[in-house]
Formats: sequence, structure tokens, C-alpha cells
Amino acid sequence: MVCNLLEGKKGIIFGALNEKSIAWQVAEKAYEQGAEFVLSNAPAAIRFGDINALAEACDSEVVPADATDTGDLEKVFTAAVDKFGGKIDFVLHSIGMSPNVRKGIPYDNINYDFYHKTLDISALSFHKMLQVARQIDAINEWGSVVALTYVAAQRTLYGYNDMADAKALIESIARSFGYIYGRDKKIRINTISQSPTMTTAGSGVKGFGSLVDFTERMSPLGNATAAECADYCITLFSDLTRKVTMQNLFHDGGFSSMGMSAEAMHQYDKSFKPCD
Ligand SMILES: NC(=O)c1ccc[n+]([C@@H]2O[C@H](COP(=O)([O-])OP(=O)(O)OC[C@H]3O[C@@H](n4cnc5c(N)ncnc54)[C@H](O)[C@@H]3O)[C@@H](O)[C@H]2O)c1
Repeated sequence: MVCNLLEGKKGIIFGALNEKSIAWQVAEKAYEQGAEFVLSNAPAAIRFGDINALAEACDSEVVPADATDTGDLEKVFTAAVDKFGGKIDFVLHSIGMSPNVRKGIPYDNINYDFYHKTLDISALSFHKMLQVARQIDAINEWGSVVALTYVAAQRTLYGYNDMADAKALIESIARSFGYIYGRDKKIRINTISQSPTMTTAGSGVKGFGSLVDFTERMSPLGNATAAECADYCITLFSDLTRKVTMQNLFHDGGFSSMGMSAEAMHQYDKSFKPCD
């Protein structure tokens, strides 16, 4: 077990709703590894979720913010800098929501107001976060910013709807801003493309259970859990990955490089033995 990888590091973790949340797992692991951080989520999520219990367990505090509102974001970054008496070292963007997915509206009959909301909440909020952080110079040199994404940005997966477009956009923002922030401030920006994971956001996707089963069969290492994703985030916040930036990093047990596996083929031809 590696210890104190994040000792002395300060950060902000956006998006912990309940203990299934990827951000929740990241907060627990970051705390274990010696980090101090501020937690943030939308006001409604703070009311209905369990984030205050997490804050207590991690000796943290919660600063509410609608991540689409730059004024709210400025308050979170300023609160973190004030609390720690200086700049921070890491930021996690673990935020996603599509009203079209929530209401079961199909992609070819999409509601455009909802589509705007999907893109604003799930992708533009990342740009807003980075722009606010840069304007108030809130992140130390060699700091690290990570956002969560999904392989639907590159491949079409039934039911993922307009979230696929949001993920394509957030990955592009990581590259475009990664160049500017890296060049000027030596700050790295990456996205982690995570396996389907049974969280509140994940399980809202139509047919999600079948998707989890399919990717489990297709991935040589099996699906990555939220806790494993959190471990990967910790390495990206640590000083061990200082020259990794502008990357979309697949954390999916190998799924993104597969076309067909023996385990999946067995689903179609029961006489086929997976060990052949
Ligand atoms: N679960 C999966 O299968 C999966 C796979 C790949 C990537 N991801 C991504 O991981 C990230 C975290 O999702 P999760 O699976 O942990 O689910 P989750 O539901 O626990 O987290 C989503 C979070 O987004 C927050 N949020 C929504 N609207 C917001 C707003 N306007 N302002 C601030 N916060 C807002 C929610 O309150 C919630 O805490 C998302 O970007 C998601 O797309 C999830």
C-alpha cells in the first residue's frame, strides 16, 4: 500500500452525491493519502444527498455551487484558496446530467433546451471551472485537473443519448485548455474514460445493466469499479504523473481496444467455449 501520495496537497472535489459516486470514492482515497480538500455540489444535491457526512469523515467542508454558474464557481475556488491560505493543487470534475436521458427522450427527437442543459452541466462547466481558476490564479504550478468521461465520445453506445456529445466536448476542452494552462502555468489537464459504473448518474441510462454485463464480458480485465477509478485519479493528482497532460486516459479494463471477446461470442453461440 502506497502512503501519503498526496501529502501537503490541497484541492477541490466536485460531484460527490452519495457513497456510490466516483467523486465520493476519490474524496475518501485522497483523504487517506494525506490531501486536504473542499467538497462541492449543486445546492439540491447537497440537500438530498449525503455529502455532509463525507465532509465530516474527511475533515472537509462543503461549498455549494451550480457548476454552470461562474459566480458560484468563483466562490468555491476563492473559499478553497482562503481556507488553505494559498493556491490549490488538484481539482476533480465529476459532474454529469442529461435531462433528455432522465426523461427518456430519444436522441432523434431531442428537446433542444434540455440538450443545452446537458452540454452546459456536463461539459461547459469544465471550461467554466478552468477559466475561473485561471482568472483568479487559484492553482499551483504542476497542479492537476481531472474530469470524468466515457467511451461514448468515440463509439456509439445505445441509450447514451446526448451525453455522448457532452463527453466528446469535455475531452476536447481538456486538450484545448490543457495546451494553454500547461504552456503558461505548467498545469496538467486530463480526462479519465471510466467503465460503466453503478452510480446514480450511470443507472439513469436506458439498459444500463445490460451495458455493464456486455462491457464486463468484453474487457479482459473486467469493468473498473468506482474505487479503482479513484485510485487512478489519485495517481493523476500525485507528483508521479507530472508530464501527463491533454490525454483522454481509458480506465476500462481494456474495453476500448476490444472488438469481440470469447466471453461475448459465447453469448451468441452457446456451443462456443470461451477457453478456445
Ligand atoms: N457511472 C458511470 O457509468 C460513468 C462512466 C463514465 C463516466 N462517468 C462520469 O463520472 C462522473 C460522475 O458521475 P457518477 O457516475 O459518479 O454519478 P453521480 O450521480 O454520483 O455524480 C454526478 C454528480 O453530478 C452532480 N451535478 C449534476 N448537476 C450539477 C450541477 N448543475 N452543478 C454541480 N453538480 C452537478 C450531481 O449532483 C452528482 O453529484 C460524470 O461525469 C459521469 O458522466 C460515469
